[in-house]
Amino acid sequence: MSDANSRSIVSNQAGIHEKLDEIVNKHLDAEFKKPIAAHTQTAFDEVNAKVQAFSGPLILDSCCGVGESSANLAKRHPDALIVGIDKSSHRLDKHDVEYKQTDSGQYILVQADLNDFWRLAVA
Ligand SMILES: C[S@@+](CC[C@H](N)C(=O)[O-])C[C@H]1O[C@@H](n2cnc3c(N)ncnc32)[C@H](O)[C@@H]1O
Repeated sequence: MSDANSRSIVSNQAGIHEKLDEIVNKHLDAEFKKPIAAHTQTAFDEVNAKVQAFSGPLILDSCCGVGESSANLAKRHPDALIVGIDKSSHRLDKHDVEYKQTDSGQYILVQADLNDFWRLAVA
């Protein structure tokens, strides 16, 4: 039987790292200082303006890929605003060509890095 092409894992660590708790807690206590990417700030501002002007439920479709799931969510929840978010313009660009479903619901797709987008949304 073949092991496919996977490399075997070699490590001198036999179990959970002895300092795992300490390391995780150190990072939980530290302020995350990575700057927000400019393109995500712009995308967030555009989305935020639409969200503030909307009075119904909001659904974030994070990592929406080509946005097929966003279109389906919009069909299923016609009273909601669906925001599909993905970092890949290559995937998002496929939406209009292959997946656009405009017969019901409302959704928007934006290119953004979710690590930054979620921080902006929480703030
Ligand atoms: C496995 S695909 C899932 C696509 C889609 N949900 C579907 O079911 O077809 C994962 C997606 O997550 C996106 N992604 C991964 N990390 C991301 C990040 N930090 N910010 C935004 N999108 C991200 C990728 O670009 C990719 O489209």
